[in-house]
Amino acid sequence: MKPRFAEVDAYISELFAPEDEILLSIEPALVAAGSSLAFASVSPAQGKLLQLFAHMCGAKRILEVGTLGGYSTIWMARALPSNGKLVTIEYDEKHIGVAKKHFEMAGLNDRIEIKQGKAIDVLQELSENNAEPFDMVFIDADKPPYAEYFELALKMCRKGSIIIADNVVRGGKVLDETSEDAAVQGVQRFNHMLSYNEDVYANILQTVGLKDWDGMAIAVVK
Ligand SMILES: C[S@@+](CC[C@H](N)C(=O)[O-])C[C@H]1O[C@@H](n2cnc3c(N)ncnc32)[C@H](O)[C@@H]1O
Repeated sequence: MKPRFAEVDAYISELFAPEDEILLSIEPALVAAGSSLAFASVSPAQGKLLQLFAHMCGAKRILEVGTLGGYSTIWMARALPSNGKLVTIEYDEKHIGVAKKHFEMAGLNDRIEIKQGKAIDVLQELSENNAEPFDMVFIDADKPPYAEYFELALKMCRKGSIIIADNVVRGGKVLDETSEDAAVQGVQRFNHMLSYNEDVYANILQTVGLKDWDGMAIAVVK
């Protein structure tokens, strides 16, 4: 039987994750801004899943690594209470421009702070100065340093915080032990580290649909 993953995903999204005009306008805005990653946002159903996780842990403070046009950011920020805060890290000026505009359109400017810079540097700085723990972290930037992003994020979490890392299956390429692809090697190293990390309960959820075949690692801090 021919896989109908994208069609079923569209069916699920229509039922549970309909996009408003703001979310729908992010991808075209990234294309117009000349981004090479215009189609790299999570899918609507994945955005809704992230929002559900935020509700599940009663998130008041969320940290995101990799903003792009703010698509996943908006899904998550919409689960925050009015005094909640989401800090999102991005180094690309074009992406920040698109994200800022859309946070404003969504009326979320007061809840979202963009930290511009290389994720590893920003995370290092945040972890040295962070006063309050994050309830939820979403890691979705360059893959080679995923393990380091996770370790730094973990320092800023509390018992019960949720850490999610996207794209850890990569169409099954994660099984290829001889892969020379730095992104594949990065998630292999990350997945292995996560599997024996004693500070968290963790698993990987395979995902299929509009974004093809991939997976999200999900961890809860002990
Ligand atoms: C997959 S996209 C993020 C998608 C976004 N989370 C969403 O679902 O809407 C990855 C983003 O991370 C940014 N990025 C990649 N490497 C980075 C780094 N080392 N530091 C900061 N940002 C980085 C890219 O510019 C890109 O915007």
